[in-house]
Amino acid sequence: MLVVGLQGSPRKNGSSDYLLKHFLKEIEKTGVEVQLLDIPRMNIRPCIGCGYCEKKGFCVIDDDDMVASVYPLLRKAQVVVAVSPVFFYNVTSQLKALIDRTQTFWSRKYRFRLSDPLSKTRKGFFLSMGGSRGKKLFDGIHLVAKYFFDAIDADYSGSLTYTDIETAADFKKMPELDLEISRATQALMSSLRERKRILFLGKNDDIRIQMASALTQYYAGNRFHVVKSGNEPGKRIHPGVVKAMAEIGIDMAFLEPQSRSNAIKEYHPDIIVSMGNDIEVPAIPNVTTSVWNLPDPQHASTELIVQLREQIHENVSRMTTDR
Ligand SMILES: Cc1cc2nc3c(=O)[nH]c(=O)nc-3n(C[C@H](O)[C@H](O)[C@H](O)COP(=O)(O)O)c2cc1C
Repeated sequence: MLVVGLQGSPRKNGSSDYLLKHFLKEIEKTGVEVQLLDIPRMNIRPCIGCGYCEKKGFCVIDDDDMVASVYPLLRKAQVVVAVSPVFFYNVTSQLKALIDRTQTFWSRKYRFRLSDPLSKTRKGFFLSMGGSRGKKLFDGIHLVAKYFFDAIDADYSGSLTYTDIETAADFKKMPELDLEISRATQALMSSLRERKRILFLGKNDDIRIQMASALTQYYAGNRFHVVKSGNEPGKRIHPGVVKAMAEIGIDMAFLEPQSRSNAIKEYHPDIIVSMGNDIEVPAIPNVTTSVWNLPDPQHASTELIVQLREQIHENVSRMTTDR
């Protein structure tokens, strides 16, 4: 499970940086993987409003960090935590540039009617602070956050906002901060941590795992946390899989294959499912195992991928209604 932090202030070691690092450290303590993106230090060009993404589903700007890393990370993230200081009652222009570029995700969702596999379970959390004590200081921020999280298919699950903060030193003087962050991270993460861990076992770069994972995440992600295993993850999701899944409204375009060779040791799964009877399932006490016996899809044609999708869809429905 990945938590991505978006640091939106241009000031190094400022209030935003302090608050986000503190928040992510609390989450990391529970063994969850976190990744912080220092947005102002990245090359993210502003949206030019050309409408290309509404027609094609991709951004016309294809050579900056938004394409190279931010889009895939936003899709991979189970939780997105964003921080911005109030700049003229809004987020900083650097974070806003990133937000505007998620118009591509908005287009895929509302124009192309495609759903991200994590769309029903991804969570968003917003952190903010301003130097003044204005009553409406965070009104603009909350609205921007609401529509940003909607575009990236995250439920706006909460926020922490602070007035009267000019520098990180002001946070260090707050005795209640630790407790507030600990409560907020607990509330944010608890339902995600309580899910059963399911491990799909397959071969390297296995398209059966790619489809089984996405379908389980989409239909039962509130109860199952999917882990994948094959030794080599491969460079990209198979284009035939992207096409076959888009036919049933599931968007895999920005995803990257994920696999871990030592997933069993690392994740302590509750359920292990092998994709084929040639893939050995280790016997582990208290772990439910099953073999799906799907054909090996090496050099799969589009037709075979569609057949596999149907079979996997059925298996996923059975497995998730049984438990
Ligand atoms: C360009 C700019 C605009 C700002 N606008 C506001 C504002 O509208 N309201 C406010 O309370 N503070 C405002 N501030 C103060 C910052 O929100 C405050 O200093 C914050 O703690 C800075 O966070 P940072 O250290 O993470 O950059 C502004 C600061 C700058 C540089």
